[in-house]
Amino acid sequence: MDTVFEGSLGPQAMRRAGSQIEALKERLGRTPTACVITFGCQMNARDSEKLEGVLAEAGFAITDSEDADFLLYNTCTVRENADNRLFGRLGARGSELKHSPWKKLAVCGCMMQEQINVEKIKKSYPYVDLIFGTHNLYTFPALLDAVYAPENEGEMIISILPEADRIMEELPARRKYPFKSGVNIMFGCDNYCTYCIVPYVRGRERSRKKADILAEVRTLAADGVREVMLLGQNVNSYGIKVPAGEEADYGTFPELLAAVAETPGIGRVRFMTSHPKDLSDELIEVIRTHDNISRHLHLPLQSGSDEILRRMNRRYTKEQYLSLCDRIRSSVPDIALTTDIIVGFPGETSADVDETIDVVRRVRFQNAFTFIYSRRNGTPAASYPDQPEPERVKRDFDRLLAVVQQTAREECGKSRGLTGTVMVEGVNENDPSLLTGRLSDNLLVHFPGTPDLIGKFTDVELTEAKGFYFLGKQVGTPW
Ligand code: 5AD
Ligand code: SF4
Repeated sequence: MDTVFEGSLGPQAMRRAGSQIEALKERLGRTPTACVITFGCQMNARDSEKLEGVLAEAGFAITDSEDADFLLYNTCTVRENADNRLFGRLGARGSELKHSPWKKLAVCGCMMQEQINVEKIKKSYPYVDLIFGTHNLYTFPALLDAVYAPENEGEMIISILPEADRIMEELPARRKYPFKSGVNIMFGCDNYCTYCIVPYVRGRERSRKKADILAEVRTLAADGVREVMLLGQNVNSYGIKVPAGEEADYGTFPELLAAVAETPGIGRVRFMTSHPKDLSDELIEVIRTHDNISRHLHLPLQSGSDEILRRMNRRYTKEQYLSLCDRIRSSVPDIALTTDIIVGFPGETSADVDETIDVVRRVRFQNAFTFIYSRRNGTPAASYPDQPEPERVKRDFDRLLAVVQQTAREECGKSRGLTGTVMVEGVNENDPSLLTGRLSDNLLVHFPGTPDLIGKFTDVELTEAKGFYFLGKQVGTPW
């Protein structure tokens, strides 16, 4: 069934999905299980919490195992290797589904907004039961109902909307952590960096209303959430492109951030991602004056070469980026800066990479995610004539990585001997006598402690720097 499936919304669709899962439960003689595998960014991780919320409400037991009765891949398409990882996983599921005919396989997310990927699944993985995109997540209850309706047995249901038609406020979410949560403040992106597929698969930039965001934050706080991460492709343009006359319902990002930080019960606020071109002094001031706003700013650089930045349509220069970092650091000296960098953009030379390395040396990022340019169909850069030469790219990438790792290790170690506040996130994976906590600047600390501290804040003395994390010792009373 190849259709733009609108589905009915709200409680009726949820109830119908629930009765389909009830029938499946009777057939199997046990509670059916569902698993969502997430590729990609924080935005996808938050979408997956909503998808799991719907699955749990419909009657599934949520599991991490891909052997689940309902398996959903939430995909990413920002780089080509993400696409290949999905196809590998889909191929591996084929024989499993043949042996367990009641099992259902679904695929959603950014990759599905590209027709070419949907066609490939139709042709090569015909056993997939459901495909939907990023713009109609809110119809998931109705899609679940359709997948399990007896009359659709053996059909592939495909439901993609070309553009977002609304912001949906009411999907339930199943949080991965009881004590921290992402909160979407906006969707989509209008920046059109020339290498990037996001504007094409996540649609036009649209902000949620401030009152809706604050109501969600208050509900989360009442439910025991102590840390929120405000999510948007470019949080600094929150509230800018809104319907005429409704500006007051949104305000600016600094105003929103301050209001979230001042919400009773919220002990820490993070946000992702800031575009350097429009990070305001007002935002820096809000960070400076609220000590529960994390001392961490992710500020994607992409390149240090003015010519490459221009061709990337980033709309800032190397000097502007450097002076922004200076302004941030002089107001908030203890802030950690992290970044994203691409090597191998069309037309880039080793001299351009020297400029990038120069920025890394001067800014001294606490961490930098370095990527090799991936040609994305449909983006402007994909048709630039001077595509990179892989050998040269590999050499320059390694050069950059060596500097990134050295400066990052030095930056990370700087706080050794100091005391910092962590949010305790869990028991250490390798040593159960240790807890793992996250500092305001996003670094992890492992320290002796008992699991009753999970979800609380505590001060920790950073006794030993281990490269990209610390060993520590708890001090004072947790709260
Ligand atoms: N190739 C390589 N890296 C990319 N990114 C986005 N698009 C591409 C691409 N086509 C990187 C950018 C961005 C991060 C999320 O992914 O650095 O900041
Ligand atoms: Fe992509 Fe640029 Fe938008 Fe980030 S700001 S999502 S890199 S287009």
